[in-house]
Amino acid sequence: MCGIVGYIGNRTAYQIIIKGLQRLEYRGYDSAGIALYDDEVRLYKCKGKVRDLERLTTGHPIGGTVGIGHTRWATHGVPNDINAHPHRSKNGKFVIVHNGIIENFAHLKNELTNRGYTFESETDTEVLANLIESIYLENKVSVEVAVRIALSKVIGAYGLVVFSADEPDMVIGARKGSPLVVGIGEGEYFLASDVTPIVEYTDKIVYLKDEEIAVIRRDNFKLTNIRNDSMTPDITSVDVKIDNIDKGGYDHFMQKEIHEQPMSITDTFRGRVMPDKNTIHLGGISDVLPKLVTAKRIIIVACGTSYHAGLVGEYLIEEFARIPVEVEYASEFRYRNPIISSDDVIIAISQSGETADTLAAIRMAKEQGALILGICNVAGSSISRETNAGVYTHAGPEIGVASTKAFTSQVMVLTMMAFLLGRKRNIILPEQYRALIQELVHVPGYIEQILSHEEEIRNIAAKYKDATNAIYLGRGYLYPVALEGALKLKEISYIHAEGYPAAEMKHGPIALIDQNMPVFVLATRDKYYEKVVNNIQEVKARSGKVIAIVTEGDTTIRRMADDVIEVPTTPEALMPLLTVIPLQIISYHVALMRGCNVDQPRNLAKSVTVE
Ligand code: G6P
Repeated sequence: MCGIVGYIGNRTAYQIIIKGLQRLEYRGYDSAGIALYDDEVRLYKCKGKVRDLERLTTGHPIGGTVGIGHTRWATHGVPNDINAHPHRSKNGKFVIVHNGIIENFAHLKNELTNRGYTFESETDTEVLANLIESIYLENKVSVEVAVRIALSKVIGAYGLVVFSADEPDMVIGARKGSPLVVGIGEGEYFLASDVTPIVEYTDKIVYLKDEEIAVIRRDNFKLTNIRNDSMTPDITSVDVKIDNIDKGGYDHFMQKEIHEQPMSITDTFRGRVMPDKNTIHLGGISDVLPKLVTAKRIIIVACGTSYHAGLVGEYLIEEFARIPVEVEYASEFRYRNPIISSDDVIIAISQSGETADTLAAIRMAKEQGALILGICNVAGSSISRETNAGVYTHAGPEIGVASTKAFTSQVMVLTMMAFLLGRKRNIILPEQYRALIQELVHVPGYIEQILSHEEEIRNIAAKYKDATNAIYLGRGYLYPVALEGALKLKEISYIHAEGYPAAEMKHGPIALIDQNMPVFVLATRDKYYEKVVNNIQEVKARSGKVIAIVTEGDTTIRRMADDVIEVPTTPEALMPLLTVIPLQIISYHVALMRGCNVDQPRNLAKSVTVE
């Protein structure tokens, strides 16, 4: 949610910042801006994407070796040129980029208005710029002290970078709630919302912690907290390959990430599932495994696609480990005063590891004594650092806003966890364990097979591209997949789509069915098969169009459905990993055919770091 880049060093800041913003566009892309210092502050910003910003700067001075940039996902104020970041204070002393929400901005704005300040934009960020400036001018303190005092008055969340025209050889970064990382180079420093703009230049990274302030000059980096206590930077070495954050020959990140799934899933279980020894070892949770094995209850908290993975986890863990599982939207869980005890284990699932509601949910549960585990993709992210233990998904950077490979990797982690717990609790017997493990390692090959039919699936997508609504039905393990399929379609193609448990169709949604309604039915051969076949008949009897995802060789449904997509045979517990793939491909192609921007769908952001 909003991408920030800052640079101070000896190179021209402009290129580094623009490239960095492009890498961060997945976080927001409704406006973009840059402020550079080259004898004076030069500020360019506009509604639109980073390429619009590049157009705006063409022919204008873009020199300077210090600068900050921003790509925005609007919270306060509509996306327009004025609300775009960076924001400059009234007397031009400070420029700032900010991610997060200043909750007491109205109060601060009133105070500043009473002291003669006027505001151009509707943003909370401009208030912060002026707050810093007013403290700087009125208290006659240094730039650093002014920033520190201002931040102590702020309620809310921020990841920010600020610099002053009065001290242009210094940039200040600060974080509370919204991520900010510092990259340490040779005589140069980089600041960004995540490591992707930085890894090209250095692998030495400091993840700022809440209420830490980094004061950075070309030859020096000082870390303090908001009370000005000196902090020791924890320098980590990151290993993100630049290829992983490029499109690698594909037209879109989403397409690349769909196709990466055989590999990303393999990376998720590599070194953890040992088919030759029939073992599963999850190093990240091995210390807390006794507590997990004896948990009275597991509560999974997540948002969006990660929530859907959590629902698959519920089916898996309850079936194989017989531990009661509840799955909650983090945003609901955190506010509804849930009953949590020290016997509970909370599992937070989050691709980014930065989702504000998920983070807040685990903080709240931690206070009540529960063991907190994380299933995150981004190493070093806030959730991964605030959990007691966890399992990384190792899916590699996911840039497309619509989550694909992160979902399958999350489901893979939950599958490994369920099998491991089931074995430890002696619910899965050795022979079944062996069989499950052998099947599990075949999943990447099965996904490969499905991907090889992309052309056929694309032709099916073409038939339904003009639909205005769609229904997705599934039962058991495939009910969460129906939800995920519907989410994929609506978020990138803007077709209204809803997922339902297939049996619920009769309780309302069936009223929507007519000859214009495509109904995607997850109908693989499992214990619900006959019932789902009946559901297909019910749709056909009302002239609905059925697109069925079936097990290979199914002739029964082929005779009834309008279109059929086959997936390889595997136990039903592993079917979510296969059946979601054609739904991702359909959504991708429908969106493309409708002329939508699949990697940057309107109104969305990859990482939602505000409530
Ligand atoms: C946003 C993204 C979704 C994602 C959700 C949760 O809404 O657009 O793709 O599933 O946030 O994100 P997380 O990083 O916590 O998995």
